[in-house]
Amino acid sequence: MGFTIAIDGPAAAGKGTVSRAVAAHFGFAHLDTGLLYRATGRRTLDGTDPVEAARNLQAHDLEAEDLRGPDVTQAASRVAAIPEVRQALVDFQRAFARRAGGAVLDGRDIGTVICPDAEVKLFVTASDDIRANRRWKELREKGFEDSYDDVLADLRTRDARDSARAAAPLKPADDAVTLDTSRMSIDEAIAAAIEMIEARR
Ligand code: C5P
Repeated sequence: MGFTIAIDGPAAAGKGTVSRAVAAHFGFAHLDTGLLYRATGRRTLDGTDPVEAARNLQAHDLEAEDLRGPDVTQAASRVAAIPEVRQALVDFQRAFARRAGGAVLDGRDIGTVICPDAEVKLFVTASDDIRANRRWKELREKGFEDSYDDVLADLRTRDARDSARAAAPLKPADDAVTLDTSRMSIDEAIAAAIEMIEARR
Protein backbone atom coordinates (compact mmCIF):
# COMPACT_ATOMS: atom_id res chain seq x y z
CA MET A 1 0.00 0.00 0.00
CA GLY A 2 1.12 3.57 -0.65
CA PHE A 3 2.03 5.90 2.16
CA THR A 4 1.68 9.63 1.52
CA ILE A 5 3.42 12.41 3.42
CA ALA A 6 2.03 15.91 2.77
CA ILE A 7 4.35 18.80 3.61
CA ASP A 8 2.94 22.32 3.27
CA GLY A 9 4.02 25.76 4.37
CA PRO A 10 5.00 29.28 3.26
CA ALA A 11 7.96 30.12 1.03
CA ALA A 12 11.49 29.39 2.26
CA ALA A 13 10.39 27.75 5.52
CA GLY A 14 12.55 24.70 4.79
CA LYS A 15 9.85 22.51 3.19
CA GLY A 16 11.98 21.54 0.21
CA THR A 17 15.03 20.55 2.24
CA VAL A 18 12.96 18.68 4.81
CA SER A 19 10.92 16.92 2.09
CA ARG A 20 13.96 15.74 0.15
CA ALA A 21 15.63 14.42 3.31
CA VAL A 22 12.46 12.70 4.53
CA ALA A 23 11.97 11.05 1.13
CA ALA A 24 15.57 9.82 1.12
CA HIS A 25 15.25 8.55 4.71
CA PHE A 26 12.10 6.49 4.05
CA GLY A 27 12.99 5.55 0.47
CA PHE A 28 9.93 7.41 -0.90
CA ALA A 29 9.55 9.35 -4.15
CA HIS A 30 9.45 13.14 -3.79
CA LEU A 31 7.48 15.74 -5.76
CA ASP A 32 8.13 19.45 -5.28
CA THR A 33 4.70 20.66 -6.45
CA GLY A 34 5.91 24.29 -6.57
CA LEU A 35 7.77 23.27 -9.73
CA LEU A 36 4.45 22.67 -11.49
CA TYR A 37 3.37 26.25 -10.79
CA ARG A 38 6.83 27.63 -11.55
CA ALA A 39 6.96 25.84 -14.91
CA THR A 40 3.44 27.10 -15.70
CA GLY A 41 4.35 30.64 -14.63
CA ARG A 42 7.52 30.54 -16.71
CA ARG A 43 5.57 29.71 -19.85
CA THR A 44 3.24 32.68 -19.30
CA LEU A 45 6.18 35.12 -19.36
CA ASP A 46 6.17 34.92 -23.18
CA GLY A 47 2.42 35.54 -23.32
CA THR A 48 1.14 31.94 -23.24
CA ASP A 49 -2.27 31.62 -21.62
CA PRO A 50 -1.82 30.22 -18.07
CA VAL A 51 -4.55 27.58 -18.34
CA GLU A 52 -3.14 26.37 -21.68
CA ALA A 53 0.34 26.35 -20.16
CA ALA A 54 -0.81 24.22 -17.21
CA ARG A 55 -2.73 21.79 -19.43
CA ASN A 56 0.24 21.31 -21.77
CA LEU A 57 2.94 20.99 -19.13
CA GLN A 58 5.56 18.34 -20.00
CA ALA A 59 7.93 16.51 -17.68
CA HIS A 60 10.95 18.29 -19.15
CA ASP A 61 9.39 21.70 -18.31
CA LEU A 62 10.00 20.85 -14.65
CA GLU A 63 13.71 20.57 -15.32
CA ALA A 64 14.18 24.02 -16.88
CA GLU A 65 17.22 25.80 -15.46
CA ASP A 66 15.63 29.13 -14.66
CA LEU A 67 12.64 28.16 -12.50
CA ARG A 68 13.98 29.79 -9.30
CA GLY A 69 14.47 33.37 -10.47
CA PRO A 70 12.36 36.23 -9.04
CA ASP A 71 10.23 36.79 -12.19
CA VAL A 72 9.27 33.15 -12.51
CA THR A 73 8.62 32.98 -8.75
CA GLN A 74 6.08 35.81 -8.81
CA ALA A 75 4.53 34.49 -12.05
CA ALA A 76 4.12 31.09 -10.33
CA SER A 77 2.19 32.61 -7.47
CA ARG A 78 -0.01 34.61 -9.88
CA VAL A 79 -0.97 31.59 -12.02
CA ALA A 80 -1.47 29.52 -8.85
CA ALA A 81 -4.45 31.72 -7.92
CA ILE A 82 -6.34 30.65 -11.09
CA PRO A 83 -8.70 27.74 -10.29
CA GLU A 84 -8.46 26.21 -13.81
CA VAL A 85 -4.67 26.15 -13.55
CA ARG A 86 -4.86 24.31 -10.22
CA GLN A 87 -7.46 21.91 -11.60
CA ALA A 88 -5.24 21.03 -14.58
CA LEU A 89 -2.47 19.94 -12.19
CA VAL A 90 -4.53 17.84 -9.74
CA ASP A 91 -4.47 14.44 -11.50
CA PHE A 92 -0.72 14.40 -11.94
CA GLN A 93 -0.17 15.18 -8.23
CA ARG A 94 -2.71 12.60 -7.01
CA ALA A 95 -1.26 9.89 -9.26
CA PHE A 96 2.19 10.67 -7.89
CA ALA A 97 0.87 10.50 -4.31
CA ARG A 98 -0.52 7.01 -4.88
CA ARG A 99 2.83 5.46 -5.86
CA ALA A 100 3.16 2.05 -4.32
CA GLY A 101 6.53 2.75 -2.74
CA GLY A 102 5.38 5.80 -0.79
CA ALA A 103 5.49 9.49 -1.70
CA VAL A 104 6.36 12.86 -0.20
CA LEU A 105 4.68 15.88 -1.79
CA ASP A 106 5.48 19.42 -0.73
CA GLY A 107 3.52 22.56 -1.54
CA ARG A 108 0.73 24.74 -0.18
CA ASP A 109 -2.45 22.66 -0.49
CA ILE A 110 -1.25 19.06 -0.33
CA GLY A 111 -2.79 18.28 3.07
CA THR A 112 -5.94 20.32 2.44
CA VAL A 113 -6.86 19.65 -1.21
CA ILE A 114 -4.56 17.29 -3.12
CA CYS A 115 -4.16 14.55 -0.50
CA PRO A 116 -6.68 15.15 2.30
CA ASP A 117 -6.21 11.49 3.30
CA ALA A 118 -2.41 11.61 3.53
CA GLU A 119 -1.09 9.41 6.33
CA VAL A 120 1.09 12.23 7.67
CA LYS A 121 0.65 16.00 7.26
CA LEU A 122 3.31 18.48 8.31
CA PHE A 123 3.03 22.26 8.16
CA VAL A 124 6.58 23.61 8.03
CA THR A 125 6.91 27.28 8.92
CA ALA A 126 9.37 29.93 10.22
CA SER A 127 9.33 33.67 10.95
CA ASP A 128 9.28 36.11 7.98
CA ASP A 129 12.70 37.43 8.86
CA ILE A 130 14.34 34.01 9.01
CA ARG A 131 12.68 32.86 5.81
CA ALA A 132 13.73 36.02 3.94
CA ASN A 133 17.28 35.64 5.19
CA ARG A 134 17.45 32.02 4.02
CA ARG A 135 16.00 32.87 0.62
CA TRP A 136 18.36 35.86 0.22
CA LYS A 137 21.39 33.64 0.86
CA GLU A 138 20.06 30.99 -1.54
CA LEU A 139 19.54 33.56 -4.29
CA ARG A 140 23.01 35.01 -3.79
CA GLU A 141 24.53 31.55 -4.15
CA LYS A 142 22.70 31.25 -7.48
CA GLY A 143 24.08 34.62 -8.64
CA PHE A 144 20.97 36.80 -8.13
CA GLU A 145 21.81 40.15 -6.52
CA ASP A 146 18.46 41.15 -5.01
CA SER A 147 18.69 43.12 -1.74
CA TYR A 148 17.48 41.57 1.51
CA ASP A 149 14.63 44.12 1.67
CA ASP A 150 13.46 43.18 -1.83
CA VAL A 151 13.56 39.49 -0.96
CA LEU A 152 11.53 40.09 2.21
CA ALA A 153 8.99 42.23 0.32
CA ASP A 154 8.66 39.61 -2.46
CA LEU A 155 8.19 36.85 0.06
CA ARG A 156 5.47 38.78 1.90
CA THR A 157 3.66 39.63 -1.35
CA ARG A 158 3.74 35.99 -2.38
CA ASP A 159 2.62 34.66 1.03
CA ALA A 160 -0.21 37.22 1.16
CA ARG A 161 -1.37 36.23 -2.34
CA ASP A 162 -1.04 32.49 -1.58
CA SER A 163 -2.94 32.84 1.72
CA ALA A 164 -5.70 35.19 0.53
CA ARG A 165 -6.66 33.43 -2.71
CA ALA A 166 -10.03 31.67 -2.84
CA ALA A 167 -8.68 28.56 -4.60
CA ALA A 168 -6.76 26.23 -2.26
CA PRO A 169 -5.21 28.94 -0.06
CA LEU A 170 -2.06 28.31 1.95
CA LYS A 171 -3.18 27.07 5.37
CA PRO A 172 -2.49 24.10 7.62
CA ALA A 173 -4.92 21.18 7.36
CA ASP A 174 -6.90 20.68 10.57
CA ASP A 175 -4.98 17.48 11.23
CA ALA A 176 -1.51 18.80 10.29
CA VAL A 177 1.35 18.94 12.80
CA THR A 178 3.22 22.26 12.72
CA LEU A 179 7.01 22.30 12.58
CA ASP A 180 8.44 25.78 13.24
CA THR A 181 12.02 25.76 11.94
CA SER A 182 12.88 29.35 12.99
CA ARG A 183 15.33 28.25 15.66
CA MET A 184 16.44 25.00 14.10
CA SER A 185 19.43 24.09 11.99
CA ILE A 186 18.71 22.11 8.83
CA ASP A 187 19.74 18.88 10.55
CA GLU A 188 17.50 19.60 13.56
CA ALA A 189 14.51 20.34 11.32
CA ILE A 190 15.05 17.10 9.39
CA ALA A 191 15.41 15.06 12.60
CA ALA A 192 12.25 16.62 14.05
CA ALA A 193 10.27 15.84 10.87
CA ILE A 194 11.47 12.23 10.79
CA GLU A 195 10.53 11.83 14.45
CA MET A 196 7.02 13.22 13.80
CA ILE A 197 6.57 10.84 10.86
CA GLU A 198 7.90 7.82 12.74
CA ALA A 199 5.35 8.56 15.49
CA ARG A 200 2.53 8.25 12.93
CA ARG A 201 3.73 5.25 10.98
O1 C5P B 1 7.03 26.11 -3.27
P1 C5P B 1 7.42 27.19 -4.24
O2 C5P B 1 7.91 28.42 -3.57
O3 C5P B 1 8.36 26.69 -5.30
O4 C5P B 1 6.06 27.55 -5.00
C1 C5P B 1 5.96 28.60 -5.94
C2 C5P B 1 4.53 29.12 -5.96
O5 C5P B 1 3.67 28.09 -6.45
C3 C5P B 1 3.95 29.48 -4.57
O6 C5P B 1 4.19 30.84 -4.23
C4 C5P B 1 2.48 29.20 -4.73
O7 C5P B 1 1.80 30.31 -5.28
C5 C5P B 1 2.42 28.12 -5.77
N1 C5P B 1 2.14 26.80 -5.21
C6 C5P B 1 0.81 26.50 -4.92
N2 C5P B 1 0.47 25.26 -4.49
C7 C5P B 1 1.40 24.32 -4.31
C8 C5P B 1 2.78 24.61 -4.56
C9 C5P B 1 3.10 25.88 -4.98
O8 C5P B 1 -0.05 27.35 -5.06
N3 C5P B 1 1.03 23.11 -3.93
